[in-house]
Amino acid sequence: MAAQIRLVEITDANREAVVALRVHPAQEQFVASVEASFRHAAEQPEAKPWFRAVYDGDVPVGFVMLSWNLVPGPELRGPYFLWRLLIGAGFQGRGYGTAILDEVVSLIRADGATELITSYVPGEGSPLPFYLRYGFVPTGEIDADGEPILVLDLTGR
Ligand SMILES: CC(C)(COP(=O)(O)OP(=O)(O)OC[C@H]1O[C@@H](n2cnc3c(N)ncnc32)[C@H](O)[C@@H]1OP(=O)(O)O)[C@@H](O)C(=O)NCCC(=O)NCCS
Repeated sequence: MAAQIRLVEITDANREAVVALRVHPAQEQFVASVEASFRHAAEQPEAKPWFRAVYDGDVPVGFVMLSWNLVPGPELRGPYFLWRLLIGAGFQGRGYGTAILDEVVSLIRADGATELITSYVPGEGSPLPFYLRYGFVPTGEIDADGEPILVLDLTGR
């Protein structure tokens, strides 16, 4: 059965619990923390940050951040860019990551998106197999930070 998740706005009431989510230490090279994500969002309003905590029932299990309908430019890909996705170390491998992508795809499609773009840090244990399995394909481009670009076509889904 598919994992049941809820995307929940982050407020003073739940911020601490969401910031406390950690990936495995060996995965920290692949993804910034929730706290750093808040900082990046505040520093780059032009990237149109949109983020949510991910809950299973009352338990925070993950965090997702997108660029939501930005104006693409030389340094910003979009309009819809999966900027951050992380599942807490103890909650991985239960289908939450897939369920989040399902939910995000549904939300952005309703907003008119035709594709979802992302990038990843290459290396042993990177999320590339997870993204390929979901249907993302490499575009062949590499961004300024050396991260390969992936795209998920939403027109046929
Ligand atoms: C990558 C991540 C978001 C996947 O979330 P998840 O909830 O563990 O993934 P799911 O349980 O939905 O996995 C779906 C499938 O992908 C596979 N998968 C997940 N992460 C994988 C990885 N890093 N490498 C290889 N396969 C992976 C799972 O084994 C599963 O396959 P199965 O259906 O055959 O069992 C999560 O593991 C994570 O937060 N990793 C650390 C942070 C990170 O790398 N984030 C992405 C940064 S851009």
